[in-house]
Amino acid sequence: MALTSSPSGPLRGSFRVPGDKSITHRALLLGAWAEGETTVRGANAGADCAALAKAVGALGAVVRAESEDSKERVLYRLRGTAGHWEEPLGPLDLGNSGTAFRLLAGSVATADVFAVLDGDRSLRRRPMGRIVEPLRRMGTRVDGAGQGTRAPLAIRGGGLTGIRHASRVASAQVKSAILLAGLGALGETWVEEPRPSRDHTERLLPWFGGRLLTDGARVGVAGPATLRGTEVEVPGDFSAAAFWIVAALIVPGSEIEITDVGLNPRRTGLLRVLERMGADVQVTVVRETAGEPVGRVHARASSLRGATLGADEVPDLIDEIPIWSVAAASAEGASTLSGAEELRGKESDRLQGLAKGLAKLGVTVTERPDGLAIEGRGNGPLPGGGKLSSAADHRLAMSFLIAGLRARDGVEVSSGGMVDTSYPGFYSRLLALVSSR
Ligand code: S3P
Repeated sequence: MALTSSPSGPLRGSFRVPGDKSITHRALLLGAWAEGETTVRGANAGADCAALAKAVGALGAVVRAESEDSKERVLYRLRGTAGHWEEPLGPLDLGNSGTAFRLLAGSVATADVFAVLDGDRSLRRRPMGRIVEPLRRMGTRVDGAGQGTRAPLAIRGGGLTGIRHASRVASAQVKSAILLAGLGALGETWVEEPRPSRDHTERLLPWFGGRLLTDGARVGVAGPATLRGTEVEVPGDFSAAAFWIVAALIVPGSEIEITDVGLNPRRTGLLRVLERMGADVQVTVVRETAGEPVGRVHARASSLRGATLGADEVPDLIDEIPIWSVAAASAEGASTLSGAEELRGKESDRLQGLAKGLAKLGVTVTERPDGLAIEGRGNGPLPGGGKLSSAADHRLAMSFLIAGLRARDGVEVSSGGMVDTSYPGFYSRLLALVSSR
Protein backbone atom coordinates (compact mmCIF):
# COMPACT_ATOMS: atom_id res chain seq x y z
CA MET A 1 0.00 0.00 0.00
CA ALA A 2 1.39 3.39 -1.00
CA LEU A 3 0.80 6.40 1.28
CA THR A 4 1.08 10.03 0.23
CA SER A 5 1.78 13.40 1.79
CA SER A 6 2.17 16.89 0.36
CA PRO A 7 3.07 20.41 1.49
CA SER A 8 0.82 21.50 4.32
CA GLY A 9 0.06 24.48 6.50
CA PRO A 10 1.10 24.59 10.16
CA LEU A 11 0.73 21.49 12.34
CA ARG A 12 -0.89 22.18 15.68
CA GLY A 13 -2.13 20.07 18.56
CA SER A 14 -1.43 18.32 21.83
CA PHE A 15 -1.56 14.55 21.76
CA ARG A 16 -0.06 11.21 22.86
CA VAL A 17 1.86 8.66 20.82
CA PRO A 18 1.73 4.83 21.02
CA GLY A 19 3.31 3.00 23.95
CA ASP A 20 7.05 2.50 23.82
CA LYS A 21 7.88 -0.51 21.66
CA SER A 22 11.12 -1.39 23.47
CA ILE A 23 9.51 -1.28 26.91
CA THR A 24 6.46 -3.23 25.71
CA HIS A 25 8.73 -6.02 24.41
CA ARG A 26 10.52 -6.24 27.75
CA ALA A 27 7.32 -6.11 29.82
CA LEU A 28 5.82 -8.92 27.71
CA LEU A 29 8.90 -11.11 28.02
CA LEU A 30 9.52 -10.55 31.72
CA GLY A 31 5.81 -10.96 32.47
CA ALA A 32 5.67 -14.19 30.48
CA TRP A 33 8.78 -15.55 32.24
CA ALA A 34 7.74 -14.42 35.73
CA GLU A 35 5.54 -16.22 38.20
CA GLY A 36 1.95 -14.96 38.50
CA GLU A 37 -0.04 -12.21 36.86
CA THR A 38 1.29 -9.19 34.98
CA THR A 39 -0.68 -6.27 33.54
CA VAL A 40 0.90 -4.13 30.83
CA ARG A 41 -1.03 -0.88 30.29
CA GLY A 42 -0.45 1.48 27.39
CA ALA A 43 1.44 -1.21 25.48
CA ASN A 44 2.46 -0.59 21.89
CA ALA A 45 -0.27 -1.94 19.60
CA GLY A 46 1.97 -2.41 16.57
CA ALA A 47 2.67 -5.65 14.73
CA ASP A 48 6.13 -6.17 16.29
CA CYS A 49 4.85 -6.39 19.86
CA ALA A 50 1.81 -8.40 18.75
CA ALA A 51 4.19 -10.97 17.23
CA LEU A 52 6.06 -11.29 20.52
CA ALA A 53 2.81 -11.59 22.50
CA LYS A 54 1.75 -14.44 20.22
CA ALA A 55 5.14 -16.15 20.56
CA VAL A 56 5.17 -16.10 24.37
CA GLY A 57 1.63 -17.50 24.22
CA ALA A 58 2.93 -20.40 22.13
CA LEU A 59 5.59 -20.95 24.82
CA GLY A 60 3.02 -21.46 27.57
CA ALA A 61 2.25 -17.99 28.95
CA VAL A 62 -1.43 -17.03 29.03
CA VAL A 63 -1.80 -13.74 27.17
CA ARG A 64 -4.94 -11.65 26.75
CA ALA A 65 -4.99 -8.40 24.79
CA GLU A 66 -7.70 -5.80 25.37
CA SER A 67 -7.97 -2.64 23.34
CA GLU A 68 -7.45 0.63 25.17
CA ASP A 69 -8.51 4.14 24.23
CA SER A 70 -7.24 4.05 20.63
CA LYS A 71 -5.77 1.70 18.06
CA GLU A 72 -2.33 2.87 19.22
CA ARG A 73 -2.41 1.27 22.67
CA VAL A 74 -3.36 -2.12 24.06
CA LEU A 75 -3.67 -3.61 27.53
CA TYR A 76 -2.05 -7.01 28.02
CA ARG A 77 -2.92 -9.36 30.86
CA LEU A 78 -0.48 -12.23 31.26
CA ARG A 79 -0.08 -15.27 33.45
CA GLY A 80 3.59 -16.16 33.44
CA THR A 81 5.32 -19.52 33.14
CA ALA A 82 7.46 -19.12 36.28
CA GLY A 83 10.57 -19.67 34.19
CA HIS A 84 9.26 -22.88 32.61
CA TRP A 85 8.73 -22.27 28.92
CA GLU A 86 6.71 -25.01 27.21
CA GLU A 87 7.85 -26.49 23.91
CA PRO A 88 5.99 -24.67 21.12
CA LEU A 89 4.04 -26.75 18.60
CA GLY A 90 5.52 -24.98 15.59
CA PRO A 91 7.99 -22.27 14.54
CA LEU A 92 7.68 -18.87 16.22
CA ASP A 93 7.22 -16.07 13.68
CA LEU A 94 8.61 -12.75 14.92
CA GLY A 95 7.69 -10.96 11.70
CA ASN A 96 9.75 -7.82 11.15
CA SER A 97 11.01 -7.46 14.71
CA GLY A 98 14.70 -7.75 15.52
CA THR A 99 14.04 -6.87 19.17
CA ALA A 100 11.36 -9.53 19.61
CA PHE A 101 13.56 -12.11 17.89
CA ARG A 102 16.79 -11.42 19.77
CA LEU A 103 15.25 -10.95 23.22
CA LEU A 104 13.13 -14.07 22.83
CA ALA A 105 16.14 -16.09 21.65
CA GLY A 106 17.90 -15.18 24.90
CA SER A 107 14.90 -15.92 27.09
CA VAL A 108 13.88 -19.19 25.42
CA ALA A 109 17.44 -20.45 25.96
CA THR A 110 16.69 -20.65 29.71
CA ALA A 111 14.56 -23.77 29.12
CA ASP A 112 15.31 -27.25 27.81
CA VAL A 113 12.81 -26.93 24.96
CA PHE A 114 13.26 -26.96 21.19
CA ALA A 115 12.16 -23.74 19.52
CA VAL A 116 12.56 -22.43 15.98
CA LEU A 117 12.54 -18.64 15.67
CA ASP A 118 11.88 -17.08 12.30
CA GLY A 119 10.72 -13.84 10.72
CA ASP A 120 10.10 -12.01 7.46
CA ARG A 121 12.58 -11.41 4.62
CA SER A 122 14.03 -8.34 6.33
CA LEU A 123 14.56 -10.17 9.63
CA ARG A 124 16.23 -13.10 7.82
CA ARG A 125 18.97 -10.82 6.53
CA ARG A 126 19.79 -9.22 9.89
CA PRO A 127 22.89 -10.25 11.87
CA MET A 128 22.23 -12.90 14.53
CA GLY A 129 25.80 -14.10 15.16
CA ARG A 130 26.07 -11.33 17.76
CA ILE A 131 23.60 -13.17 20.02
CA VAL A 132 24.28 -16.74 18.88
CA GLU A 133 27.97 -16.68 19.85
CA PRO A 134 27.41 -15.67 23.51
CA LEU A 135 24.33 -17.91 23.85
CA ARG A 136 26.39 -20.87 22.63
CA ARG A 137 29.10 -19.99 25.12
CA MET A 138 26.47 -20.17 27.88
CA GLY A 139 25.61 -23.69 26.74
CA THR A 140 22.72 -23.15 24.31
CA ARG A 141 22.60 -25.38 21.24
CA VAL A 142 21.83 -23.20 18.26
CA ASP A 143 21.74 -23.93 14.56
CA GLY A 144 20.43 -21.74 11.80
CA ALA A 145 20.93 -20.19 8.40
CA GLY A 146 24.53 -19.20 7.61
CA GLN A 147 25.80 -21.53 10.38
CA GLY A 148 23.65 -19.78 12.90
CA THR A 149 24.38 -16.22 11.87
CA ARG A 150 20.92 -15.52 10.48
CA ALA A 151 17.29 -16.48 11.04
CA PRO A 152 15.71 -18.97 11.13
CA LEU A 153 17.42 -20.22 14.27
CA ALA A 154 16.74 -23.57 15.93
CA ILE A 155 17.42 -23.31 19.65
CA ARG A 156 17.63 -25.83 22.47
CA GLY A 157 18.58 -24.32 25.80
CA GLY A 158 18.58 -25.32 29.44
CA GLY A 159 21.50 -26.01 31.78
CA LEU A 160 23.15 -22.67 30.99
CA THR A 161 26.07 -21.20 32.89
CA GLY A 162 26.79 -17.50 33.31
CA ILE A 163 29.40 -15.74 31.16
CA ARG A 164 31.14 -12.41 30.94
CA HIS A 165 30.50 -10.94 27.52
CA ALA A 166 32.23 -7.97 25.92
CA SER A 167 29.97 -6.99 23.03
CA ARG A 168 31.62 -5.52 19.94
CA VAL A 169 28.57 -3.41 19.21
CA ALA A 170 26.60 -1.04 21.42
CA SER A 171 23.32 -2.95 21.16
CA ALA A 172 20.55 -3.09 23.73
CA GLN A 173 19.16 -6.10 21.90
CA VAL A 174 22.39 -8.05 22.40
CA LYS A 175 22.77 -6.88 26.00
CA SER A 176 19.16 -7.76 26.82
CA ALA A 177 19.25 -11.17 25.11
CA ILE A 178 22.23 -12.17 27.24
CA LEU A 179 20.81 -10.78 30.48
CA LEU A 180 17.50 -12.59 29.87
CA ALA A 181 19.39 -15.85 29.26
CA GLY A 182 21.41 -15.09 32.39
CA LEU A 183 18.23 -15.10 34.50
CA GLY A 184 18.05 -18.86 33.94
CA ALA A 185 21.80 -19.59 34.01
CA LEU A 186 23.86 -20.81 36.92
CA GLY A 187 26.06 -18.06 38.37
CA GLU A 188 26.58 -14.49 37.26
CA THR A 189 26.23 -13.20 33.69
CA TRP A 190 27.83 -9.87 32.81
CA VAL A 191 27.69 -7.69 29.72
CA GLU A 192 29.99 -4.87 28.72
CA GLU A 193 29.48 -2.64 25.66
CA PRO A 194 31.69 -0.20 23.77
CA ARG A 195 29.14 2.59 24.40
CA PRO A 196 26.03 2.59 26.55
CA SER A 197 22.86 1.45 24.78
CA ARG A 198 19.25 1.89 25.94
CA ASP A 199 18.74 0.52 29.45
CA HIS A 200 15.06 -0.44 29.60
CA THR A 201 15.78 -4.06 30.59
CA GLU A 202 17.92 -2.89 33.49
CA ARG A 203 15.23 -0.43 34.63
CA LEU A 204 12.35 -2.91 34.36
CA LEU A 205 14.01 -5.95 35.95
CA PRO A 206 13.73 -4.70 39.58
CA TRP A 207 10.05 -3.96 38.86
CA PHE A 208 9.58 -7.75 38.54
CA GLY A 209 11.56 -8.36 41.74
CA GLY A 210 14.80 -9.12 39.86
CA ARG A 211 18.21 -7.90 40.96
CA LEU A 212 20.49 -6.03 38.60
CA LEU A 213 24.22 -6.18 39.27
CA THR A 214 26.39 -3.24 38.24
CA ASP A 215 30.13 -2.75 38.14
CA GLY A 216 31.09 0.54 36.53
CA ALA A 217 29.63 0.41 33.03
CA ARG A 218 29.10 -3.38 33.20
CA VAL A 219 25.68 -4.81 34.03
CA GLY A 220 24.80 -8.30 35.15
CA VAL A 221 22.33 -10.71 36.69
CA ALA A 222 22.76 -13.66 39.05
CA GLY A 223 20.93 -16.86 38.15
CA PRO A 224 18.89 -18.83 38.43
CA ALA A 225 16.57 -15.99 39.36
CA THR A 226 12.86 -15.87 40.05
CA LEU A 227 10.66 -12.99 38.96
CA ARG A 228 7.14 -12.19 40.07
CA GLY A 229 4.39 -10.62 38.02
CA THR A 230 3.62 -6.93 38.39
CA GLU A 231 1.81 -3.96 36.86
CA VAL A 232 3.63 -1.99 34.19
CA GLU A 233 2.50 1.29 32.68
CA VAL A 234 4.28 1.86 29.38
CA PRO A 235 5.22 5.47 28.55
CA GLY A 236 4.71 6.89 25.07
CA ASP A 237 7.37 5.97 22.54
CA PHE A 238 9.91 8.77 22.06
CA SER A 239 10.83 7.22 18.70
CA ALA A 240 7.23 7.80 17.57
CA ALA A 241 7.19 11.33 19.01
CA ALA A 242 10.37 12.12 17.05
CA PHE A 243 8.46 12.21 13.73
CA TRP A 244 6.08 14.91 14.98
CA ILE A 245 8.84 16.89 16.68
CA VAL A 246 10.75 17.17 13.42
CA ALA A 247 7.54 17.79 11.45
CA ALA A 248 6.72 20.74 13.73
CA LEU A 249 10.24 22.13 13.39
CA ILE A 250 10.30 22.10 9.58
CA VAL A 251 6.72 23.12 8.69
CA PRO A 252 6.48 26.92 9.13
CA GLY A 253 4.09 28.16 11.80
CA SER A 254 3.75 24.76 13.52
CA GLU A 255 3.50 24.22 17.24
CA ILE A 256 2.80 20.86 18.86
CA GLU A 257 2.92 19.23 22.27
CA ILE A 258 3.35 15.54 22.95
CA THR A 259 2.30 14.33 26.38
CA ASP A 260 3.02 11.18 28.44
CA VAL A 261 6.10 10.38 26.41
CA GLY A 262 9.15 8.46 27.68
CA LEU A 263 12.15 10.73 28.25
CA ASN A 264 14.88 8.22 29.11
CA PRO A 265 18.15 10.01 28.23
CA ARG A 266 19.38 6.88 26.41
CA ARG A 267 16.52 7.49 23.97
CA THR A 268 16.41 11.26 23.61
CA GLY A 269 19.74 11.90 21.87
CA LEU A 270 17.77 13.44 18.98
CA LEU A 271 16.72 16.32 21.24
CA ARG A 272 20.33 17.08 22.11
CA VAL A 273 21.31 17.17 18.43
CA LEU A 274 18.26 19.27 17.46
CA GLU A 275 19.10 21.72 20.22
CA ARG A 276 22.55 22.21 18.64
CA MET A 277 20.78 22.79 15.35
CA GLY A 278 18.81 25.67 16.86
CA ALA A 279 15.48 23.88 17.45
CA ASP A 280 12.87 25.48 19.68
CA VAL A 281 11.97 22.45 21.81
CA GLN A 282 10.99 22.38 25.48
CA VAL A 283 11.06 19.21 27.54
CA THR A 284 9.40 18.73 30.93
CA VAL A 285 9.77 15.57 32.99
CA VAL A 286 6.53 15.14 34.92
CA ARG A 287 6.74 11.74 36.64
CA GLU A 288 8.30 8.31 36.61
CA THR A 289 6.74 5.00 35.64
CA ALA A 290 8.30 1.52 35.37
CA GLY A 291 11.58 3.17 36.34
CA GLU A 292 11.37 5.53 33.34
CA PRO A 293 11.07 9.34 33.28
CA VAL A 294 7.90 10.50 31.51
CA GLY A 295 6.78 13.97 30.50
CA ARG A 296 5.96 16.30 27.64
CA VAL A 297 7.75 17.77 24.66
CA HIS A 298 6.76 21.06 23.09
CA ALA A 299 8.14 21.91 19.64
CA ARG A 300 7.80 25.04 17.48
CA ALA A 301 8.83 25.69 13.90
CA SER A 302 12.48 26.76 13.85
CA SER A 303 15.27 27.78 11.51
CA LEU A 304 17.69 24.89 11.79
CA ARG A 305 21.40 24.80 11.01
CA GLY A 306 23.44 21.74 10.02
CA ALA A 307 25.15 19.53 12.60
CA THR A 308 27.91 16.96 12.89
CA LEU A 309 26.91 13.71 14.51
CA GLY A 310 29.45 11.02 15.44
CA ALA A 311 29.75 7.49 16.82
CA ASP A 312 29.53 8.53 20.49
CA GLU A 313 26.07 9.99 20.00
CA VAL A 314 24.62 7.42 17.61
CA PRO A 315 23.30 4.84 20.16
CA ASP A 316 21.13 7.50 21.83
CA LEU A 317 19.31 8.24 18.56
CA ILE A 318 19.86 5.01 16.65
CA ASP A 319 16.21 4.79 15.53
CA GLU A 320 15.87 8.54 14.96
CA ILE A 321 18.60 8.90 12.31
CA PRO A 322 16.03 8.62 9.47
CA ILE A 323 13.92 11.50 10.79
CA TRP A 324 17.06 13.44 11.84
CA SER A 325 18.20 13.28 8.20
CA VAL A 326 14.92 14.95 7.19
CA ALA A 327 15.66 17.73 9.70
CA ALA A 328 19.20 17.99 8.30
CA ALA A 329 17.79 18.28 4.76
CA SER A 330 15.71 21.26 5.92
CA ALA A 331 18.58 22.92 7.83
CA GLU A 332 20.87 25.67 6.61
CA GLY A 333 24.30 24.29 5.68
CA ALA A 334 25.93 20.87 5.72
CA SER A 335 25.31 18.01 8.15
CA THR A 336 27.43 14.91 8.53
CA LEU A 337 26.77 11.60 10.20
CA SER A 338 29.55 9.09 10.94
CA GLY A 339 29.99 5.96 13.08
CA ALA A 340 26.53 4.76 12.08
CA GLU A 341 27.31 1.53 10.18
CA GLU A 342 24.82 -0.29 12.45
CA LEU A 343 22.10 1.37 10.39
CA ARG A 344 22.88 -1.00 7.54
CA GLY A 345 21.64 -3.94 9.66
CA LYS A 346 18.28 -2.51 10.70
CA GLU A 347 14.88 -3.31 9.15
CA SER A 348 16.54 -2.18 5.90
CA ASP A 349 19.94 -0.76 4.98
CA ARG A 350 18.91 2.65 6.25
CA LEU A 351 21.98 4.55 5.03
CA GLN A 352 21.31 3.40 1.49
CA GLY A 353 17.54 3.95 1.74
CA LEU A 354 17.98 7.46 3.14
CA ALA A 355 20.56 8.44 0.53
CA LYS A 356 18.22 7.33 -2.27
CA GLY A 357 15.16 8.98 -0.72
CA LEU A 358 16.85 12.28 0.04
CA ALA A 359 18.27 12.42 -3.49
CA LYS A 360 14.73 12.04 -4.89
CA LEU A 361 13.64 14.88 -2.64
CA GLY A 362 16.18 17.04 -4.45
CA VAL A 363 18.74 17.08 -1.64
CA THR A 364 22.46 16.69 -2.32
CA VAL A 365 23.52 13.69 -0.29
CA THR A 366 26.58 11.44 -0.17
CA GLU A 367 26.36 7.92 1.19
CA ARG A 368 29.46 6.84 3.13
CA PRO A 369 30.24 3.38 4.53
CA ASP A 370 29.37 4.55 8.04
CA GLY A 371 27.19 7.59 7.48
CA LEU A 372 25.83 10.37 5.30
CA ALA A 373 26.77 13.88 4.23
CA ILE A 374 23.70 16.06 3.63
CA GLU A 375 23.58 19.53 2.06
CA GLY A 376 20.68 21.21 3.83
CA ARG A 377 18.20 23.26 1.79
CA GLY A 378 17.54 25.80 4.53
CA ASN A 379 14.04 27.13 5.07
CA GLY A 380 12.85 26.68 1.50
CA PRO A 381 10.88 23.65 0.31
CA LEU A 382 12.67 20.46 -0.74
CA PRO A 383 12.89 20.74 -4.53
CA GLY A 384 11.78 17.20 -5.46
CA GLY A 385 9.60 14.33 -4.27
CA GLY A 386 7.42 11.86 -6.12
CA LYS A 387 7.68 8.09 -5.65
CA LEU A 388 10.02 7.13 -2.81
CA SER A 389 10.90 3.61 -1.73
CA SER A 390 10.53 2.82 1.97
CA ALA A 391 12.41 -0.46 1.39
CA ALA A 392 9.54 -1.94 3.45
CA ASP A 393 11.00 -0.19 6.50
CA HIS A 394 8.51 1.49 8.86
CA ARG A 395 10.88 4.25 9.97
CA LEU A 396 11.89 5.17 6.42
CA ALA A 397 8.21 5.23 5.42
CA MET A 398 7.27 7.61 8.26
CA SER A 399 10.35 9.81 7.74
CA PHE A 400 9.63 10.25 4.04
CA LEU A 401 5.96 11.01 4.72
CA ILE A 402 7.09 13.83 7.04
CA ALA A 403 9.55 15.03 4.36
CA GLY A 404 6.58 15.12 1.96
CA LEU A 405 5.12 18.00 4.03
CA ARG A 406 8.02 20.11 2.74
CA ALA A 407 8.51 18.55 -0.71
CA ARG A 408 7.60 20.58 -3.79
CA ASP A 409 6.12 17.55 -5.54
CA GLY A 410 4.79 15.80 -2.43
CA VAL A 411 5.68 12.15 -1.91
CA GLU A 412 4.20 8.73 -2.51
CA VAL A 413 5.87 6.18 -0.24
CA SER A 414 5.86 2.47 -1.08
CA SER A 415 4.90 -0.19 1.52
CA GLY A 416 3.23 2.46 3.66
CA GLY A 417 1.42 -0.34 5.51
CA MET A 418 4.73 -1.11 7.23
CA VAL A 419 4.10 1.83 9.59
CA ASP A 420 1.83 -0.59 11.47
CA THR A 421 5.00 -2.34 12.64
CA SER A 422 5.46 0.29 15.35
CA TYR A 423 2.81 2.99 14.86
CA PRO A 424 -0.63 1.83 13.66
CA GLY A 425 -2.22 5.30 14.02
CA PHE A 426 0.55 7.22 12.27
CA TYR A 427 -1.22 8.04 9.04
CA SER A 428 -4.53 8.96 10.72
CA ARG A 429 -2.57 11.28 13.00
CA LEU A 430 -0.83 12.83 10.00
CA LEU A 431 -4.15 13.40 8.22
CA ALA A 432 -5.71 14.86 11.38
CA LEU A 433 -2.79 17.25 11.95
CA VAL A 434 -2.77 18.40 8.36
CA SER A 435 -6.53 19.01 8.20
CA SER A 436 -6.94 20.69 11.61
CA ARG A 437 -5.37 23.99 10.54
C1 S3P B 1 16.09 -1.81 20.54
C2 S3P B 1 17.39 -1.53 20.40
C3 S3P B 1 17.98 -0.92 19.20
C4 S3P B 1 16.92 -0.31 18.30
C5 S3P B 1 15.71 -1.16 18.16
C6 S3P B 1 15.10 -1.45 19.51
C7 S3P B 1 15.63 -2.46 21.78
O1 S3P B 1 18.68 -1.92 18.51
O2 S3P B 1 17.47 -0.03 17.03
O3 S3P B 1 14.75 -0.54 17.35
O4 S3P B 1 14.44 -2.43 22.08
O5 S3P B 1 16.48 -3.02 22.48
P1 S3P B 1 20.22 -2.20 18.88
O6 S3P B 1 20.35 -1.96 20.33
O7 S3P B 1 20.51 -3.61 18.52
O8 S3P B 1 20.98 -1.19 18.07
